[in-house]
Amino acid sequence: MALWGGRFAQGPEESAFVLSRSVHFDWRLAPYDLRSSKAHLAVLKKSGLIAAMDADAIAAALNELSAEVVSGSFIAIDSDEDVHSALERGLNEKIGALGGAIRAGRSRNDQVTTDLRLFSIDHMLEVARLITLLQTAILEKASEYVNDPAPGFTHIQHAQPVSFGHELAKHAHAFARDLDRINDWLARTSVSSLGAGALAGSSLALDPEFTAKNLGFDSTFANSIDAVSDRDYVAEALFIFAMIGNHLSRIGEEWTLWASQEFAWAKIADAYSTGSSIMPQKKNPDMAELARGKSGRLVGNLMSVLTMLKGLPFAYNRDLQEDKEPLFDSIDTLMLVLPAVTGMIATTGFDREKMALAAPGGFSLTTEIADYLAKKKVPFAVAHEAAGRCVAMCESSGRELHQLTDAEFVQVHPQLDGGVREVLTVHGAINSRTTAGGTAPVLVTAQIKAALAANAKTEKEIASKHAAFSEMMSA
Ligand code: ARG
Repeated sequence: MALWGGRFAQGPEESAFVLSRSVHFDWRLAPYDLRSSKAHLAVLKKSGLIAAMDADAIAAALNELSAEVVSGSFIAIDSDEDVHSALERGLNEKIGALGGAIRAGRSRNDQVTTDLRLFSIDHMLEVARLITLLQTAILEKASEYVNDPAPGFTHIQHAQPVSFGHELAKHAHAFARDLDRINDWLARTSVSSLGAGALAGSSLALDPEFTAKNLGFDSTFANSIDAVSDRDYVAEALFIFAMIGNHLSRIGEEWTLWASQEFAWAKIADAYSTGSSIMPQKKNPDMAELARGKSGRLVGNLMSVLTMLKGLPFAYNRDLQEDKEPLFDSIDTLMLVLPAVTGMIATTGFDREKMALAAPGGFSLTTEIADYLAKKKVPFAVAHEAAGRCVAMCESSGRELHQLTDAEFVQVHPQLDGGVREVLTVHGAINSRTTAGGTAPVLVTAQIKAALAANAKTEKEIASKHAAFSEMMSA
């Protein structure tokens, strides 16, 4: 049943109808649409705009319809334009013309964005939960390798040795920022749009505050024209998802590199690997590659919504219907990628010996020589130069730094005495990095402990927010 038509001599031509139709993708808003309809009905009843008896009959029909949507016995049909028209058809099939009474003071313009906010909040909380599980996997894996040295890289060149636990734990800090962003987003998104009408508000005695509270929103719109127009929360959610994708892609890149024959640090579990159709020996890190690859569509979805919004006149324009598919796609993508990456990380083993052997390679202890001199008050530029000369001597004679003789050290700089040998060890170098956030294992252990505690707290907060949301939905 169309929600409009009185002033038209004919219905839409087939191509026009199929272009405007959205029910094949917006049907997933149905539970949120039904819930926001209940809230709107409550305010119509409260203000006497619908007689109590009629309101109760409509409420009963909405409850029935909700159950049928959940069980799948009520579904959209070809002639439904969008989720809102499909559900109104369902209501009318139950109670006839009375069903249309619920449209008083409401437009699809304030309705659709209210539904989409509810949908987004619900799914954002699920994404957040999956991230906390990923965080646990990262941090627990990191804690297994705190005392294992590995080369640390800049420019993918050996730079300085680090604790491999430090290397792994860094990812948890990136995702902690995503969780922070989600928290900020939740506060900004918790605004009801119901009552804004098509754009100008309503002459009927609605109570937007009452509706907002009913739906668990923190507040209601301040400007009705902005309320029906605002899709910042969609763009912001897509940015958060793109950033999460970006962080996942960097894990994907690392795991792919570390699982290569050349590195052979990471042993990805069979359960998270795939084979080749022609090369029987192959074991490929496809989950890591997909984590890297899927980030492309997450960025693409953000671009697509930002581009749609740019220059768009305020209030409602049909362009806004294009907000949904990118949002749904990003959410669906993360629901697939996050659990697989979590499992991959939890089941990956690392070759401690190989990493430890590689740690001093590429003269990664050279900074220790410079720091040794700097501690003896040698100006750093001079110390840097001297340490560089040690590397040059090693390179020209095919030796490692610790193989230089005492005489050679002193010849490079008079203050390079035998004491320098003590700092020319991987463990010495790692243990000496004791400034806050540094790689010394005692600090890494503390970092991981603090991050695990923060994550457990976040996990609890998300669970309680989600429980409150679910309670609101089933009210
Ligand atoms: N399906 C529409 C959308 O997703 C619902 C709002 C339609 N409003 C309108 N004025 N045609 O945006």
